[in-house]
Amino acid sequence: MEDFITRHGRIVHQDALEYMRSSIEDNSIDLIFTSPPFALLRKKDYGNVEEDKYVAWFKEFAHEFYRVLKPTGSLVIDIGGTWKPGQPTRSLYHFELLIMLCRQVQFHLAQEFYWWNPSKLPTPAEWVNVRRIRVKDAVNCVFWLSKTPWPKASNRRVLVPYSDSMLDLIENGYQAKLRPSGHDISDKFQRDNGGAIPPNLLAIPNTESNSYYLRYCKEHDIKPHPARFPSRLPELFVRMLTDAGDTVFDPFGGSCVTGEVCELLERSWICCETVPEYIEGAKGRFVSFAAENEGNESDHYKIYSPSVLWNGSGTEDYDALSVDGGQKRPDLSNTNAVGKLNGDESVRQPSKTRPKQPTLFD
Ligand SMILES: C[S@@+](CC[C@H](N)C(=O)[O-])C[C@H]1O[C@@H](n2cnc3c(N)ncnc32)[C@H](O)[C@@H]1O
Repeated sequence: MEDFITRHGRIVHQDALEYMRSSIEDNSIDLIFTSPPFALLRKKDYGNVEEDKYVAWFKEFAHEFYRVLKPTGSLVIDIGGTWKPGQPTRSLYHFELLIMLCRQVQFHLAQEFYWWNPSKLPTPAEWVNVRRIRVKDAVNCVFWLSKTPWPKASNRRVLVPYSDSMLDLIENGYQAKLRPSGHDISDKFQRDNGGAIPPNLLAIPNTESNSYYLRYCKEHDIKPHPARFPSRLPELFVRMLTDAGDTVFDPFGGSCVTGEVCELLERSWICCETVPEYIEGAKGRFVSFAAENEGNESDHYKIYSPSVLWNGSGTEDYDALSVDGGQKRPDLSNTNAVGKLNGDESVRQPSKTRPKQPTLFD
């Protein structure tokens, strides 16, 4: 199968390990964002690796990931946990994977995130629904790793709206005082920085049911990929860790959500995938960007996209990431930090009156 080529990227029908070895140069990739096949109890169509063999299987990929990443680059892995066969206890395989990546391949753990999918179904039924001795497992680990302790990054790209109480505080002021916890809350907390910094718990429902991708698959009689992640997950890391024009690689591309996000954000991208049918479906993501990318989100939770307030589209040359990864402290004296960096008057408006910035998939 020929590579499928778009304006900014390509889908390669090849084993990712072979592809990296044959076609990717040392120190050439800015971000590897991926969700590998998990070590699942119940096998999916695409041959997940068994739990006790998982770390050894992944290690070869890990060495190649390290080789192809730039020193400023990041490796972000979305991985779900699993249960031990026949008993209500958890496997440690994803923690063992993390230890291997850091102890044996010399990655640094920049930060661990937790992706909470509020719409996850309760499984395994035997422990959760029948015997009622465990709760729903609705969180994936998302490990952000890097080659050096200073990967390039900026949380300014992923701000969320302030809470009402914070808006009130910005507008009406705060009396600086020592909190019971001992923290000295100074009047710096009053500063409007353009939005709140999101936590490392990412609440993103995975409820796509009427997307252009699914309709394309239906129209072309293609089975949709069974384990897609929501576009907001790669979107957060692509925005936070790369600039326009940087190169993103997803070795386990599946339905190519990473590629679609990169195409919209004008990053160069490569996705590998071994199953031809998944590639056929993925092509639908690139047929028409005018087509709706709407998700069908639950309105039970007030969940903002982590990037909702970032004032950029694809071109963020006014706010390029610092390649020293934050080693040099910015001078914040005498500032509205965001306004100064963005040079954008709109960010200096009180947050209540500032228009909401749509994300790619709003
Ligand atoms: C968890 S899925 C990724 C889903 C993807 N993130 C999405 O949202 O559509 C993992 C994918 O990796 C593919 N895969 C497994 N081993 C591979 C390999 N060695 N090289 C390339 N792709 C592989 C599987 O076929 C599967 O589609």
